[in-house]
Amino acid sequence: MNYKITVLPGDGIGPEVMGEGTEVLGQVAKLYGFTVELEHGIVGGASIDAHGKPLTDPVLNLAKQSDAVLLGAMGGPKWDGLDYSIRPERALLALRQELGLFANLRPVKLFAALASASTLKREVVEGTDLLVVRELTGGIYFGQPKGITTLPDGTERGVNTEVYTTPEIERIAHVAFQAAQKRRNKVTSVDKANVLEVTELWRKVVTRIHKNEAYAGIELEHILVDNCAMQLIRNPRQFDVLVTTNMFGDILSDEAAMLTGSIGMLPSASLGGKVGMYEPVHGSAPDITGQDKANPLATILSVAMMLRHSFDQVAAADRIEKAVEAVLNEGWRTADIQEPGCKLVGCKQMGQLVRDKIAQLG
Ligand code: IPM
Ligand code: MG
Repeated sequence: MNYKITVLPGDGIGPEVMGEGTEVLGQVAKLYGFTVELEHGIVGGASIDAHGKPLTDPVLNLAKQSDAVLLGAMGGPKWDGLDYSIRPERALLALRQELGLFANLRPVKLFAALASASTLKREVVEGTDLLVVRELTGGIYFGQPKGITTLPDGTERGVNTEVYTTPEIERIAHVAFQAAQKRRNKVTSVDKANVLEVTELWRKVVTRIHKNEAYAGIELEHILVDNCAMQLIRNPRQFDVLVTTNMFGDILSDEAAMLTGSIGMLPSASLGGKVGMYEPVHGSAPDITGQDKANPLATILSVAMMLRHSFDQVAAADRIEKAVEAVLNEGWRTADIQEPGCKLVGCKQMGQLVRDKIAQLG
């Protein structure tokens, strides 16, 4: 098999972590007898500097014609002052929308070795293994009307619209129930149905989809988003699959990331269209850019997600995940997950350690 992969390293630490991710990919390709054809593109701030906009048509077309997209991170202080319409983040939103990636999977799994790296107590986080299923192409991120207008009295009015239609909720609910079937058969749907009509509809539709015979073995529970935020740090083990809207998913997944010790550990998959997109949940981290301090594990784990979800290369994905776990068990840490007594390494060395371990595991 040959896979065509669009690689979009982006800004900040994006290129550093992506370098380690693609090295791992090349290594497992050889081990498991497939080939990868990597085509690099410029996005985000780098694209603004080169072309005046964060995502150009050639890069979008490249992504559309590939088998999967691997993305680093976008943005940085240099571009913060720009108009919203051409900010680096726009590239990410446009890619999600243009590729039809309505389902964002963010697995939040604590590696046992990192139980004391979290800011939360070991007793609380130990055993955390949940999946955030975030709706990604609807809701307040894309709803109309939106914008800022000037009122007759000279003051301004800013508007965004939280909107969901039945089909949008149905398809993300199916993704959540199907994911739960492969896990622990529990779905928690997160909404604000006590206040927002749009999520009253969300709750109604998710409840109806759950009645589908195929999902008979799955427990469905509804939770209000404020309570969910609290429960996540009170008792994260109660959750298996969390399904929620675009904005609630954005917020809750950052919160949940801290259960694993660092956002530098979290991979993600964006699915729903013909081409899947895989990226670390963390951002471009301008404060540590170019210092070889970034944690490449989220990107390496995103490569594993790509192998699993887009290419069905399950053995290769398992091997990468096992190697990451083994390296952590041996006490190697990047700065973000550093603890007393551990062995501190940079981005490049962490990547190399994972590759050495992948080789050994054979
Ligand atoms: C994320 C990020 C993005 C989002 C930003 C960078 C647009 O925070 O992927 O969680 O809000 O979706
Ligand atoms: Mg976010």
